[in-house]
Amino acid sequence: MVNSMAYDRQCISSICMEGGNSLRGKICIQGSKNAALPELAASLLIPGVCVFKNIPGISDIECMENLLRSTGAYLEERKEAYELSVNAADIREYRLPARYVGAMRSSVVLMGALLGRLGEALVDYPGGCVIGKRPIDLHLYGLERLGARIWTDKSRIHAYADELKGAAISFPFPSVGATQNTILAAATARGTTVIKNAAREPEITALCDFLNKAGAEIEIGGDFMAAGKIVIHGVDVSRLHGTEYEIIPDRIVAGTYMFAVLAAGGCVELENVPVAQLHSVCGIVERMGARISANEEAGSLMVEAENKRDIKNVPFAETGAYPAFPTDLQSPLLACSCVASGELELRERIFSSRFKIVEELVRMGADIELLDDDGVRVRGVKELEGRTVIARELRGGAALVIAGLAAKGITTVADVSYIKRGYQDIAGDLRKLGARISYVDE
Ligand code: UD1
Repeated sequence: MVNSMAYDRQCISSICMEGGNSLRGKICIQGSKNAALPELAASLLIPGVCVFKNIPGISDIECMENLLRSTGAYLEERKEAYELSVNAADIREYRLPARYVGAMRSSVVLMGALLGRLGEALVDYPGGCVIGKRPIDLHLYGLERLGARIWTDKSRIHAYADELKGAAISFPFPSVGATQNTILAAATARGTTVIKNAAREPEITALCDFLNKAGAEIEIGGDFMAAGKIVIHGVDVSRLHGTEYEIIPDRIVAGTYMFAVLAAGGCVELENVPVAQLHSVCGIVERMGARISANEEAGSLMVEAENKRDIKNVPFAETGAYPAFPTDLQSPLLACSCVASGELELRERIFSSRFKIVEELVRMGADIELLDDDGVRVRGVKELEGRTVIARELRGGAALVIAGLAAKGITTVADVSYIKRGYQDIAGDLRKLGARISYVDE
């Protein structure tokens, strides 16, 4: 076992842990992956230098950096300060390399930015975590409504526009990525775009904040949360300018650690937490028996679950679009529910087939019944057994780490590359809190 904090080392292949220790202490939450990715994509619209702070040190960001470089942007990293500057003054290349697009689904939002800046984008169908069907019809719908012409073949999407024009766009479903793509393309379109039923996730508001700081004119008014209405007054690219921007903290990483405390027991203070974005999560964590004290202004949150035996399942939980319980925390909740008393029926409402870790949890001794593709019933057991399990996607991988903390004996979670896509240093953070956990070299 290697005690390494070097999350960026390529040879690390597994995380190994011995369950049973409760978690205690304080950790700081990293910057948000899902906020940073579209904001980095947005920097391509801007003919100046943008400096991003609180950039998370994760492999999805490295992938986005490579994509930005491939367009001709010049990047400077200050990894130790979690800072990245992007100079997109001279970008020229609208064709994105398949290697990076195939590795990460969110690379599709570069289409909106490239169309806005260069009038053209050529990308392969995006990749990403294997969680059910992940079509991009709504992305293409938004771009087409703005005047883009789009050709697709089996593997590639080619979008072109002499001029993007503001439009009224109403999404049948509030897709996060499609909303971001549309905002990016509309920001420099001629005229005004009104989006209805846009996604309401905090990462959308953050993207608009960033663009407005850079000179865009985007209104998120009082009817945003009720109707998902966003009004974008397109500005000329020349009106956009470089800016400095701090990435918001990662609500999903914060939530993951909250469930880790529930599963392992203990008392942990989280710093740099977007408290207001975690209402639905705090609601479930409290109903499961933990005590939470949060200070929204200070961005700190304390989770206390001293007696593991007091942790009980809520009878029913379901995921949903923000502000409902996030699909990205469905697996961490599931792992935790395996060792809570009583039964939980858990429904996934956003992605199909997002229960890939059930098989692994069952191998660890969990009692989980698959009700159908999108629902499970969990009956809590006293203890899980340590095993070697495989992470097949990002959040599922983090959830297996949570299960390992609560299990008797040694658990090895392979393949960590999925977890590294979104968690800067999950083993380092948990070790700071007293867990016996390390990365393992190949
Ligand atoms: C983003 C997040 C992801 C999160 C998800 C839902 C990033 C990088 N990723 O993903 O972590 O789990 O939001 O909160 O921010 N859909 C379509 N057609 C489309 C687009 C989406 O049918 O064109 C469907 C998807 O298949 C899925 C649902 O809409 O069932 C939600 O997808 P969407 O909101 O677009 O999620 P992502 O942007 O991919």
